Amino acid sequence: MSETLTIKQPDDWHLHLRDGGMLKAVLPDTARHFARAIIMPNLVPPVVRSADAVAYRERILAALPAGSAFEPLMTLYLTESSSADDIAAAADSGLIRAVKLYPAGATTNSDSGVKDITKVAGVLERMAEIGLPLCMHGEVTNPDVDIFDREAVFIETVLDPLRRRLPQLRVIMEHVTTSHGIDYVKSESSNLAATLTTHHLMINRNHLFKGGIRPHYFCLPIAKRRSHQLALREAATSGDARFFLGTDSAPHLDGAKESACGCAGVYNAPNTLSCLAHVFEEEGKLENLEAFVSLNGPAFYGLPVNTGTVTLQKSAQPVEYAASVQTPEGPVTVFDPECDLHWHVS
Ligand code: DOR
Ligand code: ZN
Repeated sequence: MSETLTIKQPDDWHLHLRDGGMLKAVLPDTARHFARAIIMPNLVPPVVRSADAVAYRERILAALPAGSAFEPLMTLYLTESSSADDIAAAADSGLIRAVKLYPAGATTNSDSGVKDITKVAGVLERMAEIGLPLCMHGEVTNPDVDIFDREAVFIETVLDPLRRRLPQLRVIMEHVTTSHGIDYVKSESSNLAATLTTHHLMINRNHLFKGGIRPHYFCLPIAKRRSHQLALREAATSGDARFFLGTDSAPHLDGAKESACGCAGVYNAPNTLSCLAHVFEEEGKLENLEAFVSLNGPAFYGLPVNTGTVTLQKSAQPVEYAASVQTPEGPVTVFDPECDLHWHVS
């Protein structure tokens, strides 16, 4: 048994690399297969000003394995006191490719995020004018809203009103986890796209509680019921240009996840492409893998498709990968898809 699939080199349109020893430990897993990645700015403290992004980009480049041509695509973290001029200048120089909006309190290191979206109206208007994409963590933070409903309520109360007010703003609804999100993106014909993560295509909320609580499957937005997972799989594998890969690979030390109050995040960088080939094959849509991982993202961001290629080869021998990556502070567990993977990447 040997099948091969050669595709343009993929990009990751939503990635957490962290900093320091963790950055150095996890970066090779992404740089091995991906040409570029949109780098999330939720460091402590966050990457708010263009000078922060310049410095963070330099730390990422310095942490790359020798000879790697990986290109970090930087973002700025939107706060209620962000400067439209600073953001516009950073976009103009090519330093940043997007701005990230975290509703304050929605997830890891989001405390400096946006509490009241009217406070960032000026920045968003400027972004619409200059065509700079906004990456949105699409969940409301009101504790009265059930955790499984936060995405649907966000669409209704935040995203849709924003899109009606500023239809020229280019928005990426990140890590969509519900059929509501998929339907909303499909209902809009321009300036809206969505990223989908590897793990949300492979797990649903049952996995979180299979035989006990499974902290390594806990992420935000939290995995939803299977019917939503199936909607995500249909959208990802359909070839529809509005959907593309954002792994949301988000490493946390095992000690921080296996705790009474475990952190949200799944570390999937090492086996993502093998997982995705597995999913696309299961759905009978391997021919659309390239669109999802290599073509649709650059088209939305207005960037060229990579010229290099990667080859996926299916063999009877399962792909071998380490169960965890070692960092100076301890191990980080790698996403477990609960099945053997047979698509090897080279
Ligand atoms: O699960 C998540 N982890 N979701 C996010 O939005 C942030 C991320 C992180 O930074 O760990
Ligand atoms: Zn994320």
